[in-house]
Amino acid sequence: MASSSRAQFSSRIGFILAAAGSAVGLGNIWGFPTQAASNGGAVFLFVYLLMVFALAYPLLVAELTIGRYGNANPIKSLRSIWPQQRGIAALLGIAGMIAVSMILSFYAIVAGWLFGFLVGPILEAIGFTTAANWLESFSTSRNLILMIVFMIMTIMVVRNGVANGIERWSTRLMPVLLVLFVVMTGYILTQEGAMEGLKMFLVPDFSHFSSGLVVSAMGQAFFSLSLGVCSMMVYGSYLRKDTNIPKTAAQVALLDTSVAFVAGLLILPAMFVAQHNGVEIYNDAGALLDSDTLVFSVLPAMFNTMGTGGVFIGILFFVLMVIAALTSSISMLEVPVACATEELQQDRKVAVWWIGGLITIFSSIIVFNFGDMFGLVISLTTEYAQPILGMCFALLVGWIWKRDQVLQEIKEGYPELEQSLFWKIWPWYVRVVCPVMMLMVFFA
Ligand code: TRP
Repeated sequence: MASSSRAQFSSRIGFILAAAGSAVGLGNIWGFPTQAASNGGAVFLFVYLLMVFALAYPLLVAELTIGRYGNANPIKSLRSIWPQQRGIAALLGIAGMIAVSMILSFYAIVAGWLFGFLVGPILEAIGFTTAANWLESFSTSRNLILMIVFMIMTIMVVRNGVANGIERWSTRLMPVLLVLFVVMTGYILTQEGAMEGLKMFLVPDFSHFSSGLVVSAMGQAFFSLSLGVCSMMVYGSYLRKDTNIPKTAAQVALLDTSVAFVAGLLILPAMFVAQHNGVEIYNDAGALLDSDTLVFSVLPAMFNTMGTGGVFIGILFFVLMVIAALTSSISMLEVPVACATEELQQDRKVAVWWIGGLITIFSSIIVFNFGDMFGLVISLTTEYAQPILGMCFALLVGWIWKRDQVLQEIKEGYPELEQSLFWKIWPWYVRVVCPVMMLMVFFA
C-alpha cells in the first residue's frame, strides 16, 4: 500500500517527538494534576498508571498500526482493514473526526488561557496593568479572543504539513519543556507547605477510591495518549515502514506518563505552597475551588514567590506550555484536514481554513455558554467518545482484521516479532482483555 508521494516523518526521533508532542499537552499539565488533586492524589495516580499500561498502551499500538497499514487518512485506513463493511468503517472514522474536532474546541479555550498568562506579566512589567488584568482574569471576551488567537496559530502550523510544520516544532521544543519542569519541581519542593502536597500525591489514602475515580482515570489516560479519535492513527499513517511500532509506542507512553508524573510533583506541592501563602484552594466541603482554573492561579502565585527571576521563569514556562498545547492541537486538527485533503481532494491550505473556521465557531459557542457547555463537552468527548471509539478500534484489530495482516504490518519494523513476548500477549489482549476492561469500567 506504499505510496511514495505521501508525506512522512523524516526520522524516527522526529516521529517519537511528534507523537509525544501530541500526547504531552494540557492533559498532562492541566488535566492530570487537577484530576489527581480532586480525586485523592495518590490513589488516582496508581489507577492512572494501571490504566496507561494495561489499557492505553495496547490501544496505542493498535491505532498506530491501523494508520500505518492504511497509509492514508483514518476513513480510508479503517476501510482498508474492514473491506467487507466499508460504510461502518467510514462512519467510525467520521465519528473520530467529529470527536477530535470537539476536543479541539475546548482545548483551544484552555490553551488561550495559557497565552493570557504568558502575555499578562510582560504587559504588567511595562505598565499596562489593566490589559494584564484582563488577560489574567476570567471573562467571555478574554476567552473568546485568546481562543481565536490559539486557533489561528494551530491553523498556521497545520497548513505547512508534516515535516515542515509538525515535526520541526516538536523536535526542538519538547526537550526544553522537560528540563524546565524538573528545575521548577526542584524549586517548589524547597518551599514551605510543599511536603503536604507531595504526601497527597504519593501516599495513597484508599478511602478516596470509587468507581467514578476509575472512569476518570481511564478517560484521563485516553486523553493523555490522544487515543480513540484517530489522532494517533493519522500520525501512524506518516510513520515509516521500518519503525518498530511496539517499541516506539512504549517510548511515547513512557515519556507522556513521565511528564504527567513530574507535572503532579510540581502542581500538587505548588497548590499547598500557595495555600500556605494565603491562596484558598479548597472549599468547606473539601472540593477544589474552581478546579478548571486552579492551576492557572497556583502557578503565577509560585512565580511571584521567586522574586525577579520568577517573572522570567514564568514567561518561559508559559511559552513552553503554549508550544506543548500547540503540538497537541495540531495533531487534532490534522485528523479532519487529512480526511478532507484525501477524501474530498481538497488543497491542504483550503481545508485547513474552513475546518479550522468551523471549529472556531463551535468553540465560540462554548465560550458564550461556558457554564453549561464547557464541562459537558469535555465529559462527552473524553469520558464517552474516546473510550467507546477506542473499544471499537480494539474490536476491529482483535476480531476483524486478519491476524496475518496485522503480523505482517508490525513485522516490517520488528522482524523478530513472532518470537517476542509482545506477540504472545498483545493480539489476544486487544481482542479480549481491552474490550472487557472497558465494558467493566463503563458499567461500574
Ligand atoms: N494528549 C494531549 C494532551 O494530553 C491532547 C490531545 C492531542 C488529544 N490529540 C488528542 C486528546 C486527541 C484527545 C484526542 O494534552
